[in-house]
Amino acid sequence: MILPITAYGHPILRKIAVDIEEDYPNLQQLVDDMYETMHATSGVGLAAPQVNLSIRLLVMDATPYADEDPQAKDFKRVLINPEIIEEEGENWVFNEGCLSIPDIREDVERISNIRIQYYDENWKFHDERYTSVMARIIQHEYDHLEGILFVDRVSNIRKMLLKRRLLDISKGNIDVKYKMIFPLKKKGRR
Ligand code: NI
Repeated sequence: MILPITAYGHPILRKIAVDIEEDYPNLQQLVDDMYETMHATSGVGLAAPQVNLSIRLLVMDATPYADEDPQAKDFKRVLINPEIIEEEGENWVFNEGCLSIPDIREDVERISNIRIQYYDENWKFHDERYTSVMARIIQHEYDHLEGILFVDRVSNIRKMLLKRRLLDISKGNIDVKYKMIFPLKKKGRR
């Protein structure tokens, strides 16, 4: 089932998401739905708050970046209760977008290398290091679990320039091909 995506301004995107336990109800169904939603919306990552659930769960499919980063080839992962335990290396700029913020892309500076610990959908523990694009996708999705959005990480002048467009997204005044939950949309208006 394709799930609707929470749009910029939705309060759940600002909450700190909580860890889940192994007995979390219908976890496999949720993971399947998140994959289906991510693929239907052409995303490379999707965090649970974007489908209106404040839990620490991400799905990723980095395949579209396989040319830029060999680690991305066939990289499909479910990250449960992830924790970035180290960030090091250079600051580098990468152009980011987000399913919750359609049609806006901005250059964002982040640190190049990360070490992350998480559980997969079989509750197997992983401790891994990533660089470049792979690290970037994880950092972006991880931010969602902390209530942070990529537009928070741009300069104040860029923030000012984006203000109007972000408000339009919250109100649903945008053309978007997938279903979204707009926090400021007036009832009865299409
Ligand atoms: Ni995002």
